[in-house]
Amino acid sequence: MASESGKLWGGRFVGAVDPIMEKFNASITYDRQLWEVDIQGSKAYSRGLEKAGLLTTAEMDQILHGLDKVAEEWAQGTFKLNPNDEDIHTANERRLKELIGETAGKLHTGRSRNDQVVTDLRLWMRQTCSTLSNLLWELIRTMVDRAEAECDVLFPGYTHLQRAQPIRWSHWILSHAVALTRDSERLLEVRKRIDVLPLGRGRGLGNLVGGEEAIPYAPAQPCFLPPPELSFRAITLNSMDATSERDFVAEFLFWASLCMTHLSRMAEDLILYGTKEFSFVQLSDAYSTGSSLMPQKKNPDSLELIRSKAGRVFGRCAGLLMTLKGLPSTYNKDLQEDKEAVFEVSDTMSAVLQVATGVISTPQIHRENMGQALSPDMLATDLAYYLVRKGMPFRQAHEASGKAVFMAETKGVALNQLSLQELQTISPLFLSDVNRVWDYRHSVEQYGALGGTARSSIDWQICQVRALLRAQQA
Ligand code: ARG
Repeated sequence: MASESGKLWGGRFVGAVDPIMEKFNASITYDRQLWEVDIQGSKAYSRGLEKAGLLTTAEMDQILHGLDKVAEEWAQGTFKLNPNDEDIHTANERRLKELIGETAGKLHTGRSRNDQVVTDLRLWMRQTCSTLSNLLWELIRTMVDRAEAECDVLFPGYTHLQRAQPIRWSHWILSHAVALTRDSERLLEVRKRIDVLPLGRGRGLGNLVGGEEAIPYAPAQPCFLPPPELSFRAITLNSMDATSERDFVAEFLFWASLCMTHLSRMAEDLILYGTKEFSFVQLSDAYSTGSSLMPQKKNPDSLELIRSKAGRVFGRCAGLLMTLKGLPSTYNKDLQEDKEAVFEVSDTMSAVLQVATGVISTPQIHRENMGQALSPDMLATDLAYYLVRKGMPFRQAHEASGKAVFMAETKGVALNQLSLQELQTISPLFLSDVNRVWDYRHSVEQYGALGGTARSSIDWQICQVRALLRAQQA
């Protein structure tokens, strides 16, 4: 295996490596996280070598047993790294040789770290996508439950951050939940493209031992089935593409960026709603902090951090795309940089999703303040619809309602304080039943079209989101 220099690739090198370069080149400090999938991949590969006749059954058993021991050491925290362990692949193979001797050197037949690392990463990311999907589903479920429980609460809907029309609080919650369902769907799509086996593609230029025989499915099979123990959905079609392509990493980072965009927008709304100026919600103590100077303050740090982590995630996505752009064919060491991005973004997403679930499930809402924030001018659109229902074209109705708003402003009264006589100077279509317009609950109830604010529509949205979650989990 290793030469005198102690390196896997040491055979043609005579001079020592600059210690700074050694550190610069090594990825073990972070890719050690891949220990388990690296062993999983090696075990599958050794079975493939045996099937291809490149290992005897006894040698395979020896390797499998040795790999189990290596795994045990990692699991128990007793694995000892040595200074020549450049990365996880080197470390595991070095330890395997110490445990079982020269047979360990046969494991790398027809395999390169180029296909090994991308196999490991795909295995790791596949698992991570499942974990993140579960966390995202939990968040969406929590939001939907809250929307259902607080369906009767009304508050202002905003456009341009100006009070626009009354809506249900549930409608606001669901607007964010629905965006997140697209993120969970997208994550499953990304997972599908991660779930492709590159192992046996060697260094990327075809394989000495024929590639397909070196990976563990029966060579007699007419189509290339992924090895059952790794249970990949499909196999890569081209060895150069298999070892050099990191589009699945870019897709994952973009998924995270978009999901963070949604979460940071939701966080921003809640930060605003939690200010004294709005006073619609009060974050629970579990997700806020105090000020070291001003005792009266309760800061929404959880939400601010969710908002800010978006920047970190976008940065990782943009950074990886920069790294990939213009790389020459097949593996280049630049690709080593993909893992830190993946690990950091996965950790960030996991934390953000859990905190977001806690934050959304705990705040107290101030129904009264929400109700008091509604004002009759927010019913001006409804006033226009009143006239539309009486047969007036919408453009004219809009103008007539605008005139009523102007009249009320000029007289210094609320829109609903205009008398019927005053309204009739604008249009004779106004009759005494116009009083029904000045009811916020009636206002939200009239928007019964799918996706609107009526109770029936909210119930429909809740049903749809729950059905989507069930379908995604199936
Ligand atoms: N540590 C490397 C990485 O993360 C493994 C692949 C190294 N391959 C090579 N030909 N030097 O990308």
